[in-house]
Amino acid sequence: MANVTVIGAQWGDEGKGKLVDWLSNRADVVVRFQGGHNAGHTLVVGDQVYKLSLLPSGVVQGKLSIIGNGVVVDPWHLLKEIGTLGEQGVKITPDLLVLADNACLILPLHRDLDQAREAAATNKIGTTGRGIGPAYEDKVGRRAIRVADLADRAALEAKIDRLLAHHTPLRRGLGLPEYDGAALLAELEEMAPKILPFARPAWLMLDEVVKAGRRVLFEGAQGALLDVDHGTYPYVTSSNTVAGQAAAGSGLGPKGPGYVLGIVKAYTTRVGEGPFPTELKDEVGQHLGTVGREFGTVTGRSRRCGWFDAALVRQSVALNGIAGVALTKLDVLDGLPKLKICTGYELNGEAIGYLPAGLKAQGQLMPVYEEMDGWSETTQGARSWKDLPANAVKYVRRIEELIGAPVSLLSTSPQRDDTILMRDPFQD
Ligand code: IMP
Repeated sequence: MANVTVIGAQWGDEGKGKLVDWLSNRADVVVRFQGGHNAGHTLVVGDQVYKLSLLPSGVVQGKLSIIGNGVVVDPWHLLKEIGTLGEQGVKITPDLLVLADNACLILPLHRDLDQAREAAATNKIGTTGRGIGPAYEDKVGRRAIRVADLADRAALEAKIDRLLAHHTPLRRGLGLPEYDGAALLAELEEMAPKILPFARPAWLMLDEVVKAGRRVLFEGAQGALLDVDHGTYPYVTSSNTVAGQAAAGSGLGPKGPGYVLGIVKAYTTRVGEGPFPTELKDEVGQHLGTVGREFGTVTGRSRRCGWFDAALVRQSVALNGIAGVALTKLDVLDGLPKLKICTGYELNGEAIGYLPAGLKAQGQLMPVYEEMDGWSETTQGARSWKDLPANAVKYVRRIEELIGAPVSLLSTSPQRDDTILMRDPFQD
């Protein structure tokens, strides 16, 4: 039986949380493998709404949930999220949640740096301001504090010294007050006993879980076009968001990710700055934003909206080895008389079928569109393929042809059960 890896196939916010929640019913373990609390996953179960940023979405279904080594963890945020879910009746104990002991921490000084840099920049990235980039910088700079260090005061002291030797001049340059190492040590020591009960060698647990024949669901955050290597660099997040990272970010090895399910919105959105060839700044774009309630879960910012870009998703299918797609938010297109799909681009008068690496070229792409008739009926809440209007079926079929991957699931509202299953990813 295959494991399943769920990843965002566009610029994030495709509706991964709902699909992971739905699929976690069929899994034994749910694993986050990259990103941090920059993600925003909204799960709607009956009249309860759960908002998660760091916890794997499987916790709501009571599944063993693992925060892998590839995630950067703000421990204070994690405790807050655990507290909020507890108030909603989801009790999170060390039996339910495992935090990789080799994951790196996000500290208040990372958040300071992220926000100060964005405020000072003339060319902003539009980050979530949660310290993600600076935390990953310290990880590859080999000066990060990791979860296991919280149990070792001597290691913590030495690491804080090393960290501040790097951060003090940076802070000075940005006009930030000097960080007090003793205060940081005290904050970490106060928090450590609350976090350490969750800390375990996650790779070892996963190895045991897989050997016992149990199914793993990997939960990606952000989207493939925000990948630090493959995305619209530098307007990207600071981790690898593609499916291959599920292996490195959890310690399960390259066979671990299994079936890759790409989550794809029926149109395109992005938050923050950066190229977006099919962006609409007209009333159709406004319609998508309003009807689709396109506001960031983490920052509340309005998302930029545009037509479905099949070239971009085709690229994502290749980058991630996507075997099937879950198409979300088709209902947002209900009532639009005409729909456009971008099939490729024109660059300096030449046809090009992919997003080139250069930022200048990305900014000059002219989308090539194919027009289709829309539908006036509602698709919201449809629970079977035959409930869909003929033109909606045509739209979905055309997307499948253009992206080169089948639609395995269709999500027709934020509600858990408004989901049409065409092929079960765990059976493929
Ligand atoms: P960072 O991840 O906070 O460093 O932000 C870098 C870029 O990734 C910005 O454009 C953010 O808007 C974007 N981003 C980060 N997390 C998400 C997400 O969960 N959904 C969509 N965009 C995101």
